[in-house]
Amino acid sequence: MSGQTDPNRVYIFDTTLRDAEQSPGASLNLNEKLEVAHQLARLGVDIIEAGFPVSSKVQFDAVERISTEVAGPVIAALARTMAKDIESAARALKPAARSRIHTFTSSSPEHMKHMLRMTPAEVLAKATEAVRLARSFTPDVEFSAQDVPRSDMSFVRELLAAVIEAGATTLNIPDTVGYAIPTEYGELIADLKANVPGIDKGIISTHCHNDLGLATANSLAGVLNGARQIECTINGLGERAGNASLEEVVMAMKVRKDLAKVDTAIVTRELYPTSRLVSRLMGIPVQPNKAIVGANAFAHESGIHVDGLLKDRSTYEIMTPESVGVPGSRMVLGRHSGRHGFKARCSELGIELNDTQIQQAYEKFLELADKKKEVFDEDIVALLEDEFETIPQMFRLEFLQCASGTGTIPSATVRISREGEMLQEAAWGDGPVDATYNAIRKATGIDVKLERYNIRAVTESSEALGEAILHIRSGEKVYVGRAVSTDIIEASAKAYISALNHMLARSNGINPQAD
Ligand code: KIV
Ligand code: ZN
Repeated sequence: MSGQTDPNRVYIFDTTLRDAEQSPGASLNLNEKLEVAHQLARLGVDIIEAGFPVSSKVQFDAVERISTEVAGPVIAALARTMAKDIESAARALKPAARSRIHTFTSSSPEHMKHMLRMTPAEVLAKATEAVRLARSFTPDVEFSAQDVPRSDMSFVRELLAAVIEAGATTLNIPDTVGYAIPTEYGELIADLKANVPGIDKGIISTHCHNDLGLATANSLAGVLNGARQIECTINGLGERAGNASLEEVVMAMKVRKDLAKVDTAIVTRELYPTSRLVSRLMGIPVQPNKAIVGANAFAHESGIHVDGLLKDRSTYEIMTPESVGVPGSRMVLGRHSGRHGFKARCSELGIELNDTQIQQAYEKFLELADKKKEVFDEDIVALLEDEFETIPQMFRLEFLQCASGTGTIPSATVRISREGEMLQEAAWGDGPVDATYNAIRKATGIDVKLERYNIRAVTESSEALGEAILHIRSGEKVYVGRAVSTDIIEASAKAYISALNHMLARSNGINPQAD
């Protein structure tokens, strides 16, 4: 990646597995990280930041497995400016065909004084030493100084010049606390490009957090002023308000190529499938009005808009849903579409299944078609995500009866199987979901804290599939559960049981979670 040949190429550095994964409630197990990394490779990202190896064994193993198994992108690992971090990153990255060590420090007075407890001279000395050590393992070394917009720019210039001299090939300029505004961040990049000796030998990178909702705008301002790498995450996930959203920065540069005059290697029709995958595995729903991948991003409601669209799509659409992988024509299937029609639609939706999986999925589809007159593309996607859950089903919901209504006390009875044994209990609660969860707690004997609970209709109308996504907490660990059903109480119960299954799989060593 060092030595850029095409001056108009912007490299996409995805940090979903590092910056987003370290944020609360977003941790993934090893298999899930691999699944995301393979999808990021299909999406065409240039660099995958796979983790922070020195921080835990789970992080180390994830970076090592991704380095071993994921072909295509450069695999990067994070390290502080400490020898043990850099050596650990180098060991974890060893199997990668192309690897990058990403070493970081801080340059703002706030960070240097209160966090690092170092003088600027000490920060500079450690940074150059770290870059030199990293270069002894790989020719591809990235350097970041946290909190640049709140730093003294003459120190930042001096620091960058020193690490370039020591061998850094990518110079990342994080707006760690999301403080900058676009003109300011753009000018900052232009200043560094003009005034740091040797900077043209490397690539300038943006890393913008979204505390003021400006991460995409700031990243774009960086590119317009000479940055050629953007660090970003799927769905804009990340610490606090998140990072620049990959789908937004990529589509902004593509749709406004007239202004940006740059290209990326992103396969844009993989944007929506990637967004769905990350949302499902992290258990973090995408807000409906989210640009590019939100449920309403291509929905047109007002009469004037619909009239315009019917006359010519360009009236109200600056990009097509198909171009970002959102199923365009909302194809409707029913019981009479047959196995062949169902299989054909799955493959048009980019879902390739073997014969056994097709048979299994088709049976679920028929059950759904009996309950719902029309089965939409979104229903098929949700159904398949549910059906091919990879975690062993230690608990399974066999029976659920729930009563609620005005003037009654909500109550629920559940029967749950666990390896041949039947567990049955009844309970009441302050609503039908609460009553059901109380009954599950009594039946399984497992008391965990429900941290997040979200239910949404997969499509419109009262007969739509309901998708429940929740997080449960047991001590320090958070587990995600997700399920769909035309009955929202059943979806809620199954999602809770799916989270319990994730928890049990972990304690049996099948599902190691990040620390
Ligand atoms: O936000 C930040 O500054 C970071 C660095 C580690 C690059 O995530
Ligand atoms: Zn960050």
